[in-house]
Amino acid sequence: EIAPIISPSLLACDFANMKAEVLRCVKAGAPRLHVDIFDSVALDSPWAFTFGPQMVKAIRDCSPDAILDLHMCVYKPARFVDAMKEAGADRFIFQFEAMADEAEVLELAKRITDAGMKCGISINPATSVSTLDSILASGLISVVNLLAVEPGFGGQKFNTVILVKLEHLVQLRQEKGYSFEIGVDGGVNEKTVPQVAKADVLVAGTYVFRHPVSLSQGVMDLSTAAKS
Ligand code: DX5
Ligand code: ZN
Repeated sequence: EIAPIISPSLLACDFANMKAEVLRCVKAGAPRLHVDIFDSVALDSPWAFTFGPQMVKAIRDCSPDAILDLHMCVYKPARFVDAMKEAGADRFIFQFEAMADEAEVLELAKRITDAGMKCGISINPATSVSTLDSILASGLISVVNLLAVEPGFGGQKFNTVILVKLEHLVQLRQEKGYSFEIGVDGGVNEKTVPQVAKADVLVAGTYVFRHPVSLSQGVMDLSTAAKS
């Protein structure tokens, strides 16, 4: 089995030193970066509000080669597709619960892929994998991001409810011959990582950036722990 990729979530980095933080990730060998784009319409708290396209462009400018994954939990994400592509995003992972209905989901997915980005879908801990059946069958989804915490903030406790969902998705993918990547986002640390080693991508903010030792140590620790 291949060990999952660790994708640092910049939500936990030092915002006043964004460039240095991004460069540290790149130097630590992180092949991709996770950027949480949140607004306070899709999410209740004004403190959840994060970045727009200008910050994405700034991150891209200091990391030309890293894959940039955007976790889009915003009101009407379709408005952001072209701007985020222009800013340098590679993957546009929208939050399923912020969508009105399936028609909106499919239209958005098509728009994202037409714009030349990979399309991902992110689901809350309480949302079941089976609600995604027809969306996955559309073939437009390259990434399924399983949130192991409520969206909005880093540093929350890992919700084990997603373990069954991970299992279910891995099985579904195999049965149907799908090729989407599976991500787990939130609460990933040295203790929880062995449980989610079947995922392809592990998004970690607090562990990677607030680790007592260096960032590179944090990234490597997690990938080692995921293998064992
Ligand atoms: C949660 C975000 C995550 C968050 C993960 O709303 O989607 O990307 O930054 O942070 P940690 O690793 O601290 O749970
Ligand atoms: Zn995220």
